[in-house]
Amino acid sequence: MDVAGAKRVTVIPTGAALGADVVGVDLLQRLDEATFKAVEAAWHEHLVLRFRGQRLDDPGLLAFARRFGELDKAPVHAGPEVEDPYPEITVMSNIKVGGRPIGNLGHYEAEWHTDMSYNEKCPIGSLLYALEVPLEGGDTGFSNMYAALETLPAELKRAIIGKQCKHDSSRNSAGELRKGFQDVTDPREAPGAVHPIIRTHPATRRNALFLGRRRNAYIVGLPLKESEDLLNKLWAHASNPGFAWYQKWKVGDLVMWDNRCTMHRRDAFDPAARRLMHRTQIKGDKPYFDPASVAA
Ligand SMILES: [Fe+2]
Repeated sequence: MDVAGAKRVTVIPTGAALGADVVGVDLLQRLDEATFKAVEAAWHEHLVLRFRGQRLDDPGLLAFARRFGELDKAPVHAGPEVEDPYPEITVMSNIKVGGRPIGNLGHYEAEWHTDMSYNEKCPIGSLLYALEVPLEGGDTGFSNMYAALETLPAELKRAIIGKQCKHDSSRNSAGELRKGFQDVTDPREAPGAVHPIIRTHPATRRNALFLGRRRNAYIVGLPLKESEDLLNKLWAHASNPGFAWYQKWKVGDLVMWDNRCTMHRRDAFDPAARRLMHRTQIKGDKPYFDPASVAA
């Protein structure tokens, strides 16, 4: 459908539980305000947007991302120790130069997660731009956490109302122990932020299930066994493929997702293949639950 107020923007939903293509936009050009607002509204409606066939450089990616808010600095510098002209760009890659990785996350599978949920303030969203992609593998899955909450069985919903979850910060989304962290043996002792399990999206006012990541998660106040049992049930529900859509990458794809109402994961790929993406993320606030929000 054409979006009101924007002449050349067309939004084509994937047909899955989330995601849409935005066509007719060259992101290297500054979008006029009406077009930008239409893109933002489409993002809130579809949670994940894909813009194919882009020809972005780092300044272009950052300029577009900044329309949505202030950007975070790259969280981890895994690359060579050189001066970084774009500290808000994170290189995601398995490529090595001179035996050293130029980016993060390697070729491994990344499990379902929401970015940086272990921080007090969590990013609003992230943008990922494909520069080199393998012929197969490395697909990114996204899942709709509004839908996960809306379809949650009543007894599970009752069990999480008013509850908070701790989000372990000791490991990255590929499960690797971060530098400077100890291995966690008791989730109750894990380092990381505590957030409500049902969170309210500040723009849409809708509620979403907010699980963050499974490993070492802990529902505050419950005996450990009860917390584990409840988390297992919540994750079994949230991992339903009916909530998901998978992005098969092409060079020139820019995908942006809303961290406040989605999770994502990545398939592993052949370590001999090259995959290079540039990512940036929009700064956010502390997640909250608003009792006056739209009932889920
Ligand atoms: Fe991620």
